[in-house]
Amino acid sequence: MAIVSIIYFSGAGHTEKLAEAVKKGAASISGISTNLISIKGDDILNGRYINEAVISQLDESDAIIFGAPTYMSGPAAQFKAFADATVGSWFNQKWKDKLAAGFTISGAPSGDKQGTLQFFQSFAMSHSMLWVSLGELPGQPDGVNRLGSWGGAMALASQEPTDVAPNAEDKLTGEKLGARVAGLALKMK
Ligand SMILES: Cc1cc2nc3c(=O)[nH]c(=O)nc-3n(C[C@H](O)[C@H](O)[C@H](O)COP(=O)(O)O)c2cc1C
Repeated sequence: MAIVSIIYFSGAGHTEKLAEAVKKGAASISGISTNLISIKGDDILNGRYINEAVISQLDESDAIIFGAPTYMSGPAAQFKAFADATVGSWFNQKWKDKLAAGFTISGAPSGDKQGTLQFFQSFAMSHSMLWVSLGELPGQPDGVNRLGSWGGAMALASQEPTDVAPNAEDKLTGEKLGARVAGLALKMK
């Protein structure tokens, strides 16, 4: 059994849909247990993320997948507040050699989603984690990785309702990422 945790922030619910798809993909691999963890407003007090129980849950995970909408060309501030609160785990290198991966969504086709994925990657490196790429070629008939990302799953949603965007292709891309991380987590175990 390996544990895959997905931790994300979502302001208007679009990232949440993508997070659910990532979890679905991870849970499709037998021998995997998943935690889907939302960063809630109540978890942040005076700009500081204070939910220590979540940090402990991540300390116990074999793989951690990070998710946030791209706000102003990087991860939403609520995700950064969570990231800053992991400094204790960093100090003790509790996440060393765990797998890491990430996903993001934004309103513009680029929107600079890459800035968010690059933050996730540097964050994972600071924890001495092992980054898992998306591992899917763009231009597939089912629309997987239609936005053409290598470093993680990207999706598109602006003001549309969350039952419309992210669309089925982007959610399938998220599922593929979850399944890839889960399969690798089992192999590592
Ligand atoms: C404060 C704020 C900043 C944003 N910045 C960007 C941006 O830099 N690039 C972009 O393409 N979309 C941007 N957007 C659009 C969101 O990324 C997009 O609507 C996303 O689907 C929101 O996800 P959520 O529903 O999980 O919050 C921004 C939205 C907000 C509210």
